[in-house]
This record gives sequence, structure tokens and C-alpha cells, in this order.
Amino acid sequence: MAKTLSSIISAILLFTIIFSGPATAKPHRFSRHVSPATLGLKRQKLSHLHFYFHDIVSGRSPTVVQVAKAAMTNRSATLFGGVAMMDDPLTVGPNVTSKLVGRAQGIYASADQTETALLMVVNFAFMEGKYNGSSLSILGRNAVFSTVREMPVVGGSGLFRFAHGYAQARTHTFDFKTGDAVVEYNVFVFHY
Ligand SMILES: *[C@@H]1O[C@H](CO)[C@@H](O)[C@H](O)[C@H]1NC(C)=O
Ligand SMILES: *[C@@H]1O[C@H](CO)[C@@H](O)[C@H](O)[C@H]1NC(C)=O
Ligand SMILES: *[C@@H]1O[C@H](CO)[C@@H](O)[C@H](O)[C@H]1NC(C)=O
Repeated sequence: MAKTLSSIISAILLFTIIFSGPATAKPHRFSRHVSPATLGLKRQKLSHLHFYFHDIVSGRSPTVVQVAKAAMTNRSATLFGGVAMMDDPLTVGPNVTSKLVGRAQGIYASADQTETALLMVVNFAFMEGKYNGSSLSILGRNAVFSTVREMPVVGGSGLFRFAHGYAQARTHTFDFKTGDAVVEYNVFVFHY
């Protein structure tokens, strides 16, 4: 009797294992904990990047274009409400003909009614050496007439996965006639 019962239980277990196999092989699991090693993450590093940003408004091939503005933008001393899209070259030296290390692609918008300060939403897409294809994302406030402006680095991709840090911008040259600017950037980022 006990023997019969145990063989029935074994048969049921075997049946269950065989027929539930494919169903449990692909669970629809929403989240799980993984160790950093599964993503190849070892030690966090701190990197310092230094380059020049060229915001070219004038001439035959501008790198920044206004895409929107409010009815009152022209009457505002700070051009409040103006929105521009940029694809600005980033070079290793202050001369725009020096080596291209990346491009600053994103939006800046005049977001302050009393001081000229921009909301910056920008991806630095790098193309230099091992950084080619990696990017950093910046989201911050840029009071353009201040000597040093600091903006948070809120993330990154490629070599800059899990990046966080800050970018400091200093105007190198600004042409009041054309509006063209060269800005020096020092970026400090933690990443793996
Ligand atoms: C606002 O200024 C721009 C550029 O200075 C000019 O082209 C445009 O006509 C102006 N718009 C209005 C409504 O004044
Ligand atoms: C930038 O470099 C070009 C070519 O290398 C040179 O002709 C030009 O004078 C330089 N500009 C400045 C401002 O140094
Ligand atoms: C960067 O990567 C792209 C795509 O893989 C490649 O076409 C390009 O030549 C690379 N540029 C540099 C400067 O290595």
C-alpha cells in the first residue's frame, strides 16, 4: 500500500517535471537582482575630459538654429521662451579646425526672465579614440554671462554607462556682433 502510494507520487512528480519544464523555462519576470560582475563592472573610475564647444550662429553653415519662441520673446531682455537646437562641434583645442572629439547635440532654451540663463538638455556624442560611440547627457542651468557655469552630468552610454558628475563651462570667446561663441568645457565623471 505504502509502496503503491510512493510510486504514484513519483509518477506525479515526474509528470509535473516533464510537463512544467517548458513553461518555467521562460518566466515573465519583471525584475531581479544581479551582481555588478554580470555586466562586467569592476571599479568605478573618475575621468576628466577637456574640450572646446563651438556654437556657430552666423554664416552659411550655422550649427545652432532657433526652433521656437513665444510672442513675447523679442520683447524680453533675456529672450525668454526662445528655444534653439544645436549640433555643435567639440574640438580638442579652441580653434574649430583642431581635432574633432565629438558633437554637442541637444536643445537650449532661455528659461530666466531677469538674467540670461539657459536650460541645457544636451548629449555629448564622442568620436575620439575609445570614446567613439559613447555619450554623456547633460541637464542643467547655464547662466551664459557668468565666468564659470556648472551643469550636472546625469548619465551616459557606452564607456560612460552609469556616469554621473559635472561639467564646467567657461566662455573662451564670444563675438557680440555675430553671436558665435567658443566655450571651454571641463567635465568630471565617475563611470566604470
Ligand atoms: C523678432 O526678432 C527676429 C530676429 O531679430 C525678427 O526676425 C522677427 O521679425 C522679430 N519678430 C517680431 C514679431 O518682432
Ligand atoms: C585656426 O587654424 C587655421 C588652420 O589651421 C588657421 O588658419 C587659423 O588662423 C586658426 N585660427 C586661430 C584663431 O588661431
Ligand atoms: C567611430 O565609429 C564609427 C562607427 O563605428 C566609424 O565609422 C568612425 O570611423 C569612427 N570614428 C573614429 C574617429 O574612430
